[in-house]
Amino acid sequence: MILSRLSPLLNVPLVRSLTRDALLQMDPEIAHGATISALRMGLGPEQTEPDAPELRTHLCGLELSNPVGMAAGFDKNAEVAKPLARMGFGMVEVGTVTPRPQSGNDKPRLFRLPGSDGVINRMGFNNEGHAAAFARLKGAHVGAILGVNIGANKDSEDFVADYVTGIGRFSEVADYLTINISSPNTPGLRNLQADEALARLLDACLKARSKAPVRVPMLLKLAPDLDETQLDAIARVIEPTDLDGLIVSNTTLSRDAVAGEDNATQTGGLSGKPLFALSTQRLAQVRQRVGTRPIIGVGGIHSPETAVMKFEAGADAIQLYSALVFGGLELLERIKRGLVASVRAQGLNSVADLTGRTTDDWAAGRFN
Ligand code: FNR
Repeated sequence: MILSRLSPLLNVPLVRSLTRDALLQMDPEIAHGATISALRMGLGPEQTEPDAPELRTHLCGLELSNPVGMAAGFDKNAEVAKPLARMGFGMVEVGTVTPRPQSGNDKPRLFRLPGSDGVINRMGFNNEGHAAAFARLKGAHVGAILGVNIGANKDSEDFVADYVTGIGRFSEVADYLTINISSPNTPGLRNLQADEALARLLDACLKARSKAPVRVPMLLKLAPDLDETQLDAIARVIEPTDLDGLIVSNTTLSRDAVAGEDNATQTGGLSGKPLFALSTQRLAQVRQRVGTRPIIGVGGIHSPETAVMKFEAGADAIQLYSALVFGGLELLERIKRGLVASVRAQGLNSVADLTGRTTDDWAAGRFN
């Protein structure tokens, strides 16, 4: 009762920014836990107006009321997919989930880089396992496109088998599945991006998908730390398959964009603003290699302008996470308004018309 009375207060900008400032004072992982708890209790902001028609789009045969998603890693255990949809995300990707629960790496394992609005994490797929996430998602009407991001247990003897188990488990409840082989925090996982290993993995995953009662779109999430020769090899492996799309990108091991900053030497994957240029260039380079196959662009989006740039570099839809730490949850609304304004200003009809307008420039590094 008291909580539901408090809820409207969170829509008052002052209170919301105080909340954000308070969260920024806390240890980052405690702040994240507090945010998940608040969302579970119904204290999150709620979208009041329907999405503008210019935002409506399609991805892998799915209809999105808007193309902005919550990236994987925020809701690892599928606890708050519904509140995130109510906030106005057009898609919510939960996970990464692994077959068995695992506690992840020792704390501290999540670090802010306040000088550059960056984040470094070495969480290590801490999650409650398939069964817990599945129980929360079964029969849930999320209200947005639901992605389930699947991974492998750190101590698994057969990574490929873990993905196959995930596909069997979540095909029934997910609108799409993400095969995440790009986390830098599970030793050996990124080796699955190498061509022969990738071919074997995709073959097993696509076979598992074909056995499921419903055909769920499957996307592959890549690291930004791949060079063009590696991207060529990945494109060759993907080309003959019916993989539905790609997500570019996960966090980076590079520290070039944050050298000398506090926390920059922490081990883990860097995300947020300092990832924007690298991940957007990789997105464009992937776009050049995969034709019209759908791509979700993620990495460093922190403003309406950078959201527009992701589309122009080649994305069909976008996701974000780290910028919400610094910009607060209202950033979502600003980004959606900015996308609509950009579509209208250019005399276009839909966000889909923005896709790929500057792919070649981004791929060549002319914006970095
Ligand atoms: C992530 N990310 C991530 N990705 C993934 O596929 N599975 C995961 O479990 C996680 N976990 C995770 C935890 C934390 C704390 C962060 C900050 C990020 C990566 C995330 O989905 C995204 O690809 C990158 O963070 C880049 O986007 P942003 O954060 O720069 O918008």
